[in-house]
Amino acid sequence: MTTAAQFTDIDLSTVDLTDLSYFQDGPPHELFARMRKEANPHWNALSGGDQPGFWSFTRAADIQAISRDSGTFSSAVGGVFATLRGAAPVEVLREVILGMDPPRHTQQRNVVQAVFTPKLIRQKEIAIRETVNRLIDNIIERGECDFVEEIAVELPLLVIADMLGVPLEDRRQLFEWTNRLSQAAATSDPELGLGALMEIGGYLTGITAARKANPGDDLVSRLVHAEVDGEKLTEQEVALFFGLLMFAGNDTTRNTAAGGMRALIENPGERQKLVDGTATIPNAVEEMLRWVNPVIYFARVATQDATVGGHTVKAGERVVMWYSAGSRDPELVAEPTRFDVSREKTPHLAFGGGGAHFCLGNQLARLELKVLFEELIKRVPDMQFAGPIDRLVSSFSNELTSMPVTFTPGTRLQ
Ligand code: HEM
Repeated sequence: MTTAAQFTDIDLSTVDLTDLSYFQDGPPHELFARMRKEANPHWNALSGGDQPGFWSFTRAADIQAISRDSGTFSSAVGGVFATLRGAAPVEVLREVILGMDPPRHTQQRNVVQAVFTPKLIRQKEIAIRETVNRLIDNIIERGECDFVEEIAVELPLLVIADMLGVPLEDRRQLFEWTNRLSQAAATSDPELGLGALMEIGGYLTGITAARKANPGDDLVSRLVHAEVDGEKLTEQEVALFFGLLMFAGNDTTRNTAAGGMRALIENPGERQKLVDGTATIPNAVEEMLRWVNPVIYFARVATQDATVGGHTVKAGERVVMWYSAGSRDPELVAEPTRFDVSREKTPHLAFGGGGAHFCLGNQLARLELKVLFEELIKRVPDMQFAGPIDRLVSSFSNELTSMPVTFTPGTRLQ
């Protein structure tokens, strides 16, 4: 197994980031820091020889340059994972917006964009606060809980189930599919992801039929009634869109909430600033996003020769944008290895490098996290660890799976 200490003298030419042992304790930040300085970009050869390898980019400016040039760096040609084996087969990934190129990408993004405007998202604040307080009520008298299971998992699931317009009782099923997609991305097992997507398709048949006859203002209704080039989306397109929204909206927000709370417990002085009001929750949320950076990377394939950071990428070569590394680039943010909630609007790449695929749900995620931490700091300001923290070992998802905590019991609101 590779440990953080070994990263200081490892021969970078031997590093293969598809080997999950590098991610045993989360993203290998010390290694990324060396790659940024000594191997920019780093050529990642793949063992087995059936695939050609990829360039790893770890500087924020390079990642932003790649992300903003979707004409040169395609999401559709070879999929958005580091190798051809990702969360689902490349042909399937091409059918979700994340894996499309313009103009199809722009058309499909427009189908749901209108639901994610800042104004519509702001209107959800009261409902989100009620949900957060219900979750805190469920644990507050006990003085202990698994933060991941009972808070971090539940909040985004309830919010996205409501937006999609599926029964809230079904959320555990959504959770199970989301986890399988996350596992598929972690283990590069496209069959696992495909299985989950097929089950989602089956589940949706009844719901889409009901929304066709009787549309509401939810996302599924929008998907079944949308037209792209005068054509309705096919059932498969609807199912894949649903799967993507569910996956994109769940895992990421959950992992920021859990990783953010962990960082507050590990840095009591920073948490105190929030309790005293000397730092603001919105600024703390941006720092948590930078610190946790839940989506570790996405990849692209160059469709023509291009220069990035002074290096020529040849047509057909795969590039991996390590967002986690970009968010800790000292060129982007001073003292990046310090968790500091009083930074003003800290810049980060948690939502991507700012190109056409920039996270559609960023306002929603920010709102969920702001309300969650406002209520937590008010009602349960003294959480402490109460047992071992577990994580999913993944190069794609910075994900905690369990974090037992204790705190001074309080009283329910409702
Ligand atoms: C903290 C939470 C979140 C993080 C860190 C996050 C991160 C990301 C990242 C890194 C991308 C790809 C950007 C790129 O490669 O350029 C992305 C895309 C996307 N996200 Fe999020 N996301 C979060 C929450 C959400 C939520 C709540 C939703 C809403 C349901 C959502 C929906 C999407 C969609 C639909 C895309 C695809 C956009 C496209 O391809 O055009 N995300 N997100």
